[in-house]
Amino acid sequence: MHHDETFPVSRRGVIAGGVASATLAAAPVAQAQTQDQVQGTTQPAPPTMPVTLKVNGRTTKLNVDTRTTLLDALRENLKLTGTKKGCDHGQCGACTVIVEGRRINSCLTLAVMHEGEEITTIEGLGTPEKLHAMQAAFVKHDGYQCGYCTPGQICSAVATLGEIKAGIPSHVTGDIAAQPSVTTDELRERMSGNICRCGAYSNIIDAIHDVAGTERTA
Ligand code: FES
Ligand code: FES
Repeated sequence: MHHDETFPVSRRGVIAGGVASATLAAAPVAQAQTQDQVQGTTQPAPPTMPVTLKVNGRTTKLNVDTRTTLLDALRENLKLTGTKKGCDHGQCGACTVIVEGRRINSCLTLAVMHEGEEITTIEGLGTPEKLHAMQAAFVKHDGYQCGYCTPGQICSAVATLGEIKAGIPSHVTGDIAAQPSVTTDELRERMSGNICRCGAYSNIIDAIHDVAGTERTA
């Protein structure tokens, strides 16, 4: 039996067909854009949704585009610009905030997913007059240079100590059934999602050890 008789499709035919269907798929979009331009019509408004956020002890009701990230809601809607946008896709940790006691990357989550939840940003940890112990330790140990990653580092560091205290193991915890301790390896691993392009890592670890009352182990 000849293959060509049962399935008579040549390579050239497949490529030509692919080009044709890609052209067909693109056609309605191009046509719609042309009609919009000609008729001067506007796109329908994006869907919005009400959401109540409890940020740093203050309850605020917002009406946001459902695609708004928590990071953008904090920075653009609530003007809490302490939380930084580094990469906007979960790679740098600059946007770390504490939600219901857990640290999260606020660029990777939608504001409408946090209805009624307690959110703490760097502005809620301390004030310039009364710094949080972790903020004071970062100052004392020079845990920053440009400071762009610092709000995320500090929120992450506070939550890290909370996670260790709560007995949550990390990838470097030897015995996951035992209470993890505040070792330098544990801190490095747990803080590894927070990137600092100034390279203040060593001083950041010193600051966290200081707050935990522990000594460097590496
Ligand atoms: S801005 Fe969210 S992880 Fe970089
Ligand atoms: S202090 Fe500059 S990026 Fe960390």
